[in-house]
Amino acid sequence: MNFSHTLSDSKNWIINYKDQLEINWTERAIELHLNKETGFNIYLLDQSKAVGVLIGHFLYQDQKVSEFEILHIAVLPEYRNQGLGKMILEELEKQLKSIGKSVKIFLEASAANKFAIKLYEKLGYKAYNERKNYYGSNSINPSASQDAILFAKSFDDIS
Ligand SMILES: CC(C)(COP(=O)(O)OP(=O)(O)OC[C@H]1O[C@@H](n2cnc3c(N)ncnc32)[C@H](O)[C@@H]1OP(=O)(O)O)[C@@H](O)C(=O)NCCC(=O)NCCS
Repeated sequence: MNFSHTLSDSKNWIINYKDQLEINWTERAIELHLNKETGFNIYLLDQSKAVGVLIGHFLYQDQKVSEFEILHIAVLPEYRNQGLGKMILEELEKQLKSIGKSVKIFLEASAANKFAIKLYEKLGYKAYNERKNYYGSNSINPSASQDAILFAKSFDDIS
């Protein structure tokens, strides 16, 4: 297994595996996220086959601080529960730390997504806010009404 920041034809890979990756964005949203100037993505490759992805972006940066948001992390179903999600998240943290600034990572998860929550809590992410019925009738995903939990993790200021 190895990591890459790019994937040839990443847009089509995501669209082809949209259901397995549990990405409910429109094609336009996928394109926007992949082409963002502040975007930072990590693909996990098994040989040359992409089996997992983390899609994220920098929210804010100055000389000392870097704030990052994970928009989505996913591993293909047949590769799950083998520690790969943890590996991708740890790789992100390693790369963000190497920038040499104080880093804060934010993300949001559905309260019903117990494996994702388990992964985040295991790596020290702390819930700091809850949005009731966020994934509900007024949201982009009207099929379910679920609470969202917002998580954050900070690395010590190393300046
Ligand atoms: C969330 C996700 C990325 C986790 O990836 P993963 O490779 O399965 O994660 P890991 O193998 O590193 O496991 C993380 C923890 O969850 C547990 N877990 C994962 N899948 C599990 C399963 N099917 N049954 C029991 N526990 C499971 C693991 O046991 C592990 O905890 P442990 O180390 O204490 O045992 C993956 O489930 C996924 O792609 N989900 C669909 C997309 C998604 O919901 N993303 C999150 C958006 S917020």
